[in-house]
Amino acid sequence: MVSGGRRLSGSVMVGGAKNSALKLMAAALLAEGTTVIENVPRIVDCLTMGEVLEHLGAGVQWEGSTLTIDTSNAAGVETPYELVRKMRASIIVLGPLLARHGRARVAMPGGCNIGSRKIDLHVRGFERMGVQFSSEHGYLEATAPSLRGAFVTLDFPSVGATENLLMAAVGATGRTVIENAAREPEIQDLAGMLVEMGAKIDGAGSTAIEIEGVDGFEPVRHRTIPDRVEAGTFALAACITQGDVMLEDARADHLDLVLDKLNDAGAQIEAGERSIRVSMPERALAVDLVTLPYPGFPTDLQPQIMSLLSVARGTSILTENVFESRFMFVDELNRMGADIRTEGHHAVIRGMDRLSAAPVRALDIRAGAAMIIAALAADGTTEVFDLYHVDRGYEDFDARLAALGADVHREREPSPAGLA
Ligand code: EPZ
Repeated sequence: MVSGGRRLSGSVMVGGAKNSALKLMAAALLAEGTTVIENVPRIVDCLTMGEVLEHLGAGVQWEGSTLTIDTSNAAGVETPYELVRKMRASIIVLGPLLARHGRARVAMPGGCNIGSRKIDLHVRGFERMGVQFSSEHGYLEATAPSLRGAFVTLDFPSVGATENLLMAAVGATGRTVIENAAREPEIQDLAGMLVEMGAKIDGAGSTAIEIEGVDGFEPVRHRTIPDRVEAGTFALAACITQGDVMLEDARADHLDLVLDKLNDAGAQIEAGERSIRVSMPERALAVDLVTLPYPGFPTDLQPQIMSLLSVARGTSILTENVFESRFMFVDELNRMGADIRTEGHHAVIRGMDRLSAAPVRALDIRAGAAMIIAALAADGTTEVFDLYHVDRGYEDFDARLAALGADVHREREPSPAGLA
């Protein structure tokens, strides 16, 4: 339940990056022994990745946001459907399993609310490295009698494909080059940990990553980078309430374009070494934007900024270039009185003076955060259902918003009658 009209103020500690921590956890499989990963957010997806590692025989211990992973007995190579169904990112264990064991059996991920989420770029890249695939009963069987380095060009700078191939290439025989690689900060964080473990990697964060395979890896202690998407989400919550919020442990250099866009919308941004102050003195101005692979505007902040623009002064045009159907939540936003029309990859957002509270659903992690952000500025009390989506990607999101002054509290979730 979120009652609109409160300005957010104060400071919030930004957690570790979900989309890095999940891959750092998978990378631990490459080394025999005990790996320690710090600043891991206690969110459902990271708990699920812990179950994946335990299913492979690893020991996983949480202590606050520090994770200890003992892979001494991690001889397993199978990731079952019930875990992949919960989190498609489980397929990121393919690379480390192929590098360490030469084989893997992983349930094929389905699509989700934002698109088909294919893995053809992962498979084609692995095949270039000598991996043979067969699929039956919804499982992908991968064998690599000898994993060899290869020259791989990605049709699209896929984050997951870049990471999966990177984690195989570090243990392959010979040299691998990944062209048209994704450049996200999470890729750089993963490469940093792999190098600490003994890998030989050049160019992480650029479009061409060069890897020289090595034989063995050492377990390390590594700290996850801050979550730029979580930082952006809280920044947008501050902006829609015309508030003034300090984001602690946030990396402005990971959010250049986002902060530029907020500035264009009228926000005042003060970027420190490890903090960002975001204040919005009055109602946001409309801005146009397109989502693109990093360093472009992140698709993972598209729903959240759509909420801000739905009450901005003027009309904005937003283009989603990364996922083929990441506008599913627009219908929910329009039920709150927004005026958004979508046409393929484009959305035209005519800013309204106010939104009005309505019962709405969270459709995925970021759409759920977007509904809550919209509710912060809506007239009345909004009920947001299916909050389990939000819990997959944000730790205590409601409580942390309340600590910033929002009137938000969580009730036992009745099954939403009438919301098909
Ligand atoms: C990662 O997903 C993130 N998830 C996503 O965040 C993020 O939106 C996405 O990168 C883009 O930045 C994690 O890191 C766990 P992609 P990933 O491979 O790796 C197509 C969130 O809310 N594609 O870069 O799956 C794909 O269909 C989530 O935190 C292929 O066609 O993203 C999509 O249209 C949502 N074939 C586009 O590329 C492939 O083999 C980008 O996908 C792989 C991808």
